Amino acid sequence: MFSEPDKMIASHYDANYGNFQTSLYQEIRREAFGEDIGQNSWLTSDEQDKFLGWLGLGGGESLLDVACGAGGPTLRIAAVIGCMVTGVDVHEQAIATARSLANQRGLENRANFRVVDANEPLPFLEASFGAILCIDAINHMSGLDALAETGRPPAVHRPDRCDRPSHP
Ligand SMILES: C[S@@+](CC[C@H](N)C(=O)[O-])C[C@H]1O[C@@H](n2cnc3c(N)ncnc32)[C@H](O)[C@@H]1O
Repeated sequence: MFSEPDKMIASHYDANYGNFQTSLYQEIRREAFGEDIGQNSWLTSDEQDKFLGWLGLGGGESLLDVACGAGGPTLRIAAVIGCMVTGVDVHEQAIATARSLANQRGLENRANFRVVDANEPLPFLEASFGAILCIDAINHMSGLDALAETGRPPAVHRPDRCDRPSHP
């Protein structure tokens, strides 16, 4: 289903997603970021709030989070904005964790997580989303044009402007 390079990239995240909900990893995230929002990136809650201000997303809209990881940041957006969220990631364990977190937080009706290789055409109709986010993962993507077509142009936030270098 996925290309060898994409499978290899995803496997770099096995240790993290395999231990994501353990108390040790939660403690590490708390110590590193001050607040554990379930991120597997350098994103803090303050930074996410800033990005949300840029996006101007309303409660009735929907957001696509490309390479959403274990879904913590995506679910925080659903909770803070009250919008619908869709998260896609190539890592199966990350998506399984994201679904489990959505259930734990009572957000399963507003959150949809799917295993998708974002280097392939995305399985969504054009203009399906009011905004697109991609945090600490744009370095894994081979092209941005397909992403931009999935969101309403004025509301699409250029992922490369809200990304920063990924850690190993
Ligand atoms: C540094 S993590 C960031 C995760 C998430 N955005 C966050 O802030 O917690 C990078 C993510 O990119 C995902 N990824 C890498 N290549 C991908 C691809 N081709 N399609 C979808 N996701 C991909 C990895 O599985 C990993 O979850």
